Amino acid sequence: MATVIIKGSSRSHGHTSLVVNYLRTKIKCDLIDLLSKKIGPFDYEFKNSNDDFLPLMEQIVDQYDTLIFITPVYWYSMSSITKTFFDRLSDCLHHRKDIGYKLKGKNLAAISVGSESGIVEGFNIPFRNSAEYLGMTYLGYLHTWKSSADQNDSVLESEVMEIIDQFTLQL
Ligand SMILES: Cc1cc2nc3c(=O)[nH]c(=O)nc-3n(C[C@H](O)[C@H](O)[C@H](O)COP(=O)(O)O)c2cc1C
Repeated sequence: MATVIIKGSSRSHGHTSLVVNYLRTKIKCDLIDLLSKKIGPFDYEFKNSNDDFLPLMEQIVDQYDTLIFITPVYWYSMSSITKTFFDRLSDCLHHRKDIGYKLKGKNLAAISVGSESGIVEGFNIPFRNSAEYLGMTYLGYLHTWKSSADQNDSVLESEVMEIIDQFTLQL
């Protein structure tokens, strides 16, 4: 089976993409850009069940065994696009349990992309706990960054590339 990166940035070609592009030179994986999908918020009456979420999840559980979530740090937290995706996983615990069961035994990793090297305390916890709740194996978390002072918008610092290299050994 295969690996997929699930990207949750509010721009398709920003700093998160820089990390994704570098990662994809290191590991073979597909990419899903959540920005290109129409995924509404969780609704208790599953009113958004006809949007892109459930077909996307069917594709994910059928084609991949490792899911790497990558999100920019927006206000010390995962992006709202990523959070909406996680909220909608609740559809797979009620309305479409068949999809939820298929997540069991798969792997989950998380990567953040901030403008500073400092890790936001607890950033990894929703990813780690969600993996545990869903019966997935948590492969770990990596914080990366692209400094806003860095004038060159097309390359990552060597230190960031090195920690990504290290992280790929866990995947
Ligand atoms: C709405 C918003 C909130 C942000 N909040 C933080 C933050 O809390 N901590 C941080 O280090 N960077 C923060 N940043 C900077 C981004 O994390 C950083 O520039 C990231 O590399 C952007 O990735 P992107 O180009 O894929 O959006 C924020 C940026 C935006 C647009």
